[in-house]
Formats: sequence, C-alpha cells, structure tokens
Amino acid sequence: MGLLTGKVALVTGAARGIGRAIALEMAKEGADVAFTDLAVDENAQKTEKDIAALGVRGKAYASNAASFDEAHKVVDEVVSDFGRVDVLVNNAGITKDGLIMRMSEAQWDAVINVNLKSAFNYIHAVTPVMMRQKSGSIINMSSVVGVSGNASQVNYSASKAGMIGLAKSTAKELGSRGIRANAIAPGFIMTEMTDALSDEVKSAWAAQIPLRRGGTPEDVAKAAVFLASDMASYVSGQTLHVCGGMNT
Ligand code: NAI
Repeated sequence: MGLLTGKVALVTGAARGIGRAIALEMAKEGADVAFTDLAVDENAQKTEKDIAALGVRGKAYASNAASFDEAHKVVDEVVSDFGRVDVLVNNAGITKDGLIMRMSEAQWDAVINVNLKSAFNYIHAVTPVMMRQKSGSIINMSSVVGVSGNASQVNYSASKAGMIGLAKSTAKELGSRGIRANAIAPGFIMTEMTDALSDEVKSAWAAQIPLRRGGTPEDVAKAAVFLASDMASYVSGQTLHVCGGMNT
C-alpha cells in the first residue's frame, strides 16, 4: 500500500519540472494522476507514459490554467474519467521578471493570472466535488519569495504571497467539510525555470542556502506527497518551506 493508494490527484502544469516530479511521486505512492499543461506535447506524453509505467492511471489534459472556463472543463473531464478528485496541486507558474518601473501591465497581468488566478479557478471547480466526497487536500505552489519578497519580481512575489493567503482562507472556509488546504514554499529548485537565470544569480542564491545546494523537483514532490496524504490529516492552513534552510 502506498501513501496515496486509492486517491486521484490533479496536478496543473505537470509536463515538466516540479509538477512532473509531483505527478510521478504521487503515482509511486499509488495515486491515479490527472495533470494539465498548455499542450499535450512530447513532455506531457512522457509524463503520461512514466505515470502509467508505475502501474497507476495517468492522463494529460491540454488546458490553460489561467482560464476559468478551461479549468472547470478539465475538472468535469477528470471527474468523468476518474470518478473523483482527492488531491489538487496548483502548480502551474511562470515568471516575467523586471524592475517595477519597467514592468508592463501585460507582465503583471500574465503572472498574476497564470500563478494566482489559476489556483482560484481550480479550487472553485473542485470545491463541489470535494464537498460531496467530504474530503480533499489542496496544495498551492507558493515560493520563498512570496514570504520574503524579491527585487525584480514584484508580480511573481505578489502572486506567490497570494497563494499563501488563498490556501489559508480556503482552509478556514472548507475545513468543516473535511477539506484541507496548504501551501508549499520552495526555495531555489533546479528546473528549466531556474536554468534561465545567470550564473551570477545562481551563485548568489546558493550562498544563502545552509544546506549548500539547490533543491531538486523531487525534494518538493515529497513534501507534496506528505501534504496530500493522510499522514497530514491534521495539517491545514500551513506553508511548508522546502528551501534547504534559507532564511526567509
Ligand atoms: P517550469 O517552467 O519548469 O514548469 C512549469 C510548467 O507549467 C511547464 O510545464 C509549463 O508549460 C506549465 N505552464 C505554464 N503556464 C501554464 C498555464 N497557463 N497553464 C497550464 N500550464 C502552464 O517551472 P518549475 O520550476 O517546475 O515551477 C513549478 C512551480 O513551482 C511554479 O509555480 C513555480 O513558480 C514554483 N516554484 C519554482 C521554484 C524553482 O526554483 N524552480 C521555486 C519556487 C516556486
């Protein structure tokens, strides 16, 4: 028996990176895993295949998480394909960094819509499903910069601070229905998102990490498995920092 045997997880933005690692770690623990990404491309097909190789069901859905209607459509399809949704991981995210004076309205809107509004869209869509089940675990992917702030990332940091407030308020609103909601705040995790940073920025980050290494997507995925599982049955409204001890 895995920690998530019999559960159905839905992970947004899981064709690659942290989302993919979460999908695979949850599958290893016995969950059937539905996941979304902007397209069912080569990456998404690989994630789908790798989930199935673990002996559980996996299915990719092409969907823009920032769209309210598309999120509802995905949740309807997942319920029809899998019968239930026990775990929702709001993982899809982007960066469009820049100093505030130079940041365009489009940069602000894109990051808030993809990183924060998407989580509202999916929580709104799964709430009736989880209420019927009288159980569910919602996990919002935040970031240490949502707690500490970061120059050149006012849009990103604000979206990630929003993910914490959204998780805490959801926990308060839906706790009486057996639904838990938490946030994960990863530090510096080695994915394609962070690959794009210059070596100078990367070494500045590394210098701030007591464990002296960047995190792996699996480090974050294991925390997500914990929050999704019944091991965390009395954990709600919390933010779990997965950051190698970085001071936030
Ligand atoms: P990534 O860029 O490697 O992967 C993000 C995935 O989300 C991609 O597959 C992308 O296609 C998908 N995506 C983007 N926009 C989407 C949309 N509108 N609808 C559906 N899918 C969409 O990023 P990474 O590093 O795996 O990050 C995953 C999450 O973790 C993000 O929310 C990110 O902000 C957060 N995070 C990452 C950290 C890091 O150091 N890599 C640190 C803290 C938080």
